[in-house]
Amino acid sequence: MTHASRAYWFDDNRANWDDRAAVHEASGYGIAELLASPEAITAEIALDRDRLGELNGREVIHLQCHLGLDTISLARMGAARVVGLDLSGESLRRARAIAERARANIDFVEANVYDARAAVTGDFDVLYTSIGVLCWLPDVAGWARVIASLLKPGGRLVFRDDHPVFQAIGDDLSNGLVLREPYFQAVEPSTWEDDTSYVGPVGDAPAIIHTRSHQWNHSVAEIITALLDAGLVIDEVTETRYSAWRRWPDAMEPCPEGFRFIDKAMRNCLPLQLAVVAHRPTPS
Ligand SMILES: C[S@@+](CC[C@H](N)C(=O)[O-])C[C@H]1O[C@@H](n2cnc3c(N)ncnc32)[C@H](O)[C@@H]1O
Repeated sequence: MTHASRAYWFDDNRANWDDRAAVHEASGYGIAELLASPEAITAEIALDRDRLGELNGREVIHLQCHLGLDTISLARMGAARVVGLDLSGESLRRARAIAERARANIDFVEANVYDARAAVTGDFDVLYTSIGVLCWLPDVAGWARVIASLLKPGGRLVFRDDHPVFQAIGDDLSNGLVLREPYFQAVEPSTWEDDTSYVGPVGDAPAIIHTRSHQWNHSVAEIITALLDAGLVIDEVTETRYSAWRRWPDAMEPCPEGFRFIDKAMRNCLPLQLAVVAHRPTPS
């Protein structure tokens, strides 16, 4: 199945994300905090700072950049060229305006991840993509090939996302941790109808009209194998006890890295995020 034949799913997702962009900006989304100081960076980029390494003078691409806050943070870490890419034109319209206010020089490109190689010129030292990204992509092998094609020899991928087991658990925890969604990649997506977003209700934000979205899960082995098959070398695989968001509000509490289970025993039951660092080898 080519990604063109998945256009129906991508069209729904784009419309949904275009609507969410306005809601997210109205919710705050950490924009004021980022604009408050030219040195500020997002919590997510701060968490990945060691994985990203020295960015001074580097060429960096951020896939699925949404409102561009992590992208601005990458620019603030000294990168010489920063590209942010996303499917949602409305997200990018807002990202450009926020980046202008932050005086960050970023090239925002509207494209599907699967078209990124054709949409962007040049190769990159670092490719960053994190938190809420792989679930929107039906084909993890195709994703990994795009990543490899965008990296210079020696260039690095820094990926951190909701863990695929965390994604397979249902929203209702009243019967404990119960698997309700696929763990392995499937052709058919899980389709949702939802007029809210993960930021919760936002007083005077426009309504989400395009409520339908489609998501896929990808197992840990599918992700690692896809990156290896694309020719990358894996440098780090980490599973965390913290999440970027409060998926189960009654069972989770804030922690320095985001949110974790209140129940200490539960913290050892379920990985909440998966981080992978990999690089494209230099030819010998
Ligand atoms: C949860 S956000 C991730 C960004 C970041 N972690 C954040 O919270 O701002 C997901 C982004 O993926 C984008 N997206 C979804 N499917 C995509 C695709 N096939 N190609 C490019 N971007 C896509 C959406 O438009 C959205 O901006």
